[in-house]
Amino acid sequence: MYTKENVTVLDHPVVARDLSILRNQDTDIVEFRTAMARIATILAYTSLKELPLRETSIQTPITETKGYHIDTDVIVVPILRAGLTLVDAIMNFIPDAKVGHLGMYRDEITHEPVDYYSNLPDGISEGLVLLVDPMLATGGSADDAIGYLKKQGAKKIRFTSLISAPEGLKRITEKYPDVSIITAAVDEKLNEDAFIVPGLGDAGDRYFGTS
Ligand code: PRP
Repeated sequence: MYTKENVTVLDHPVVARDLSILRNQDTDIVEFRTAMARIATILAYTSLKELPLRETSIQTPITETKGYHIDTDVIVVPILRAGLTLVDAIMNFIPDAKVGHLGMYRDEITHEPVDYYSNLPDGISEGLVLLVDPMLATGGSADDAIGYLKKQGAKKIRFTSLISAPEGLKRITEKYPDVSIITAAVDEKLNEDAFIVPGLGDAGDRYFGTS
C-alpha cells in the first residue's frame, strides 16, 4: 500500500476486479468502457470527499430539519483525450460542474507532453479544480497541467487518475505538495518506453478504439 499523506489509493474488491478487467489485453471495448465507468464513479465519489458544505433548513414530510448544499463550485479539467473517460462520473454527482479542457499528448520519443488545446471556464480561482487523467506515468502531463492551472489562478487542485506509476507520483507530490492525488492503483514502475508496468496499455486508445 502506497502511503503518502496527500495520496489516496482506492482499496475495494470491486475496484480490484474492475482493474483486472481493464488490465486484461483480451478485454473488448464494451467491457473496457463499462469497467472504466464503474471505477470512474468510485474515483469521483472519493475525489469529492471533504467538499465544503453550507447548512440549510429543509422540511421533511414529518418535520423541519437540517440540510446541506455543496458550498463550492467544482471545475473538472480532463487532460485530453483519455481524461474524458473520467468526466461523466463527476458530472453525475455535480450536475452543474463546469468543464475545462487541456489538450496534450505525450511525444513518443521524448516522452515530454506537447500542448495543443486549452479552454478553461471562468471561476477556476475560487472553485475546486478536479484535474483528471487515467494515467500518471512520468508525470510530465500532470506537471504541465497543474503548472498551467496555477498560472491561471487555480488555488485548490485535486488530481484524479486510474493508474499511477511511482515515478509520476513522486514528481507531483514533491513539486506540488498542496495537490492531493486520488488513484485506483499504484503500479510497479515505468518501462524504457515510459509505459506503466504492468499498467493497461494506452487508456485513450483502448477506450476510444484507436491505436
Ligand atoms: C497518456 C495519458 C496521459 C499521459 C501520461 O496520454 O493519458 O495524458 O500519457 O504520461 P506522462 O505522465 O508520462 O505525461 P497520451 O499521450 O497517450 O494521449 P491520449 O490521452 O490522447 O491517448
